[in-house]
Amino acid sequence: MRTCNNKAQLQTAVKHCRKEGQTVAFVPTMGNLHQGHLDLVRKARKLCDVVVVSIFVNPLQFGPNEDLDAYPRTMAADKEKLFSEGVNILYAPGVDDIYPEGMDHQTVVSVPDLGDTLCGSSRPGHFDGVTTVVSKLFNIVQPDTAIFGEKDFQQLSIVRKMVEDLCMPITIVGVATTRDRDGLAMSSRNGYLSPEERRIAPLLHQTLNTCREAIACGFDNFLQLESHARMQLLQAGFEPDYFAIRDARTLRAVTDNTEEVAILAAARLGNTRLIDNVRLSLNPVDDWRMLADG
Ligand code: PAF
Repeated sequence: MRTCNNKAQLQTAVKHCRKEGQTVAFVPTMGNLHQGHLDLVRKARKLCDVVVVSIFVNPLQFGPNEDLDAYPRTMAADKEKLFSEGVNILYAPGVDDIYPEGMDHQTVVSVPDLGDTLCGSSRPGHFDGVTTVVSKLFNIVQPDTAIFGEKDFQQLSIVRKMVEDLCMPITIVGVATTRDRDGLAMSSRNGYLSPEERRIAPLLHQTLNTCREAIACGFDNFLQLESHARMQLLQAGFEPDYFAIRDARTLRAVTDNTEEVAILAAARLGNTRLIDNVRLSLNPVDDWRMLADG
């Protein structure tokens, strides 16, 4: 595995692979890698000849009172994991390489609508920080394919929209959320949880599943389902930020045209903000196909 700490090194390494006619898959991360990231890498390896992973804790996507300084940085352990997974190139730039003129005068890429709701309302500027760094990384790496986790479903939807709107010649692939045995979605922030919080945390996924089952059984009073779920989370010790039943394509309210529903939640447990989501097709043919597929 070759490690590149700046754009020039990275571009030389990628150019070399391109000369050999190899295709390139890219997995952008902020490090502190867990099995969820490694599943993205495995998918990347299946899709392309060369896998590039970036590790960059992007200051532009953190709000002033968020955990930028505390965000876990575990480069040595991350490198070992990527090496074991057969990653070809690690791009681990410093802040100066990505924002050489500082962040105040940086051109910003912003996806409207999808980026304004849910986590976009509670973390103002967060998604502009994500889309700005992801477009910079895409321009630096110039991959054929980029892989993102479905755990950050809103982020994945926003990146897909950005790529479509800006005609970026990159295929975006989403990978199903990797979960611990008790259902908790894997996240670099799970490490902040105390043992007692870790015990409670899987309830977020259980509450999402209960809601999905109610909708699958035909219960269609979504406001009631949302407020019941929020109440359950509160009672369990969470501070819910949102629990929302939305159209999976628009992330707006479900309408008669909705084909797939996304149920998305963000909630604090102590100082840790957890997010998760589940989805449900409203097209009976899809349900039938899923049953037939086992
Ligand atoms: O999902 C993440 O880890 C980050 O938001 C990303 C996509 C690497 C951009 O900094």
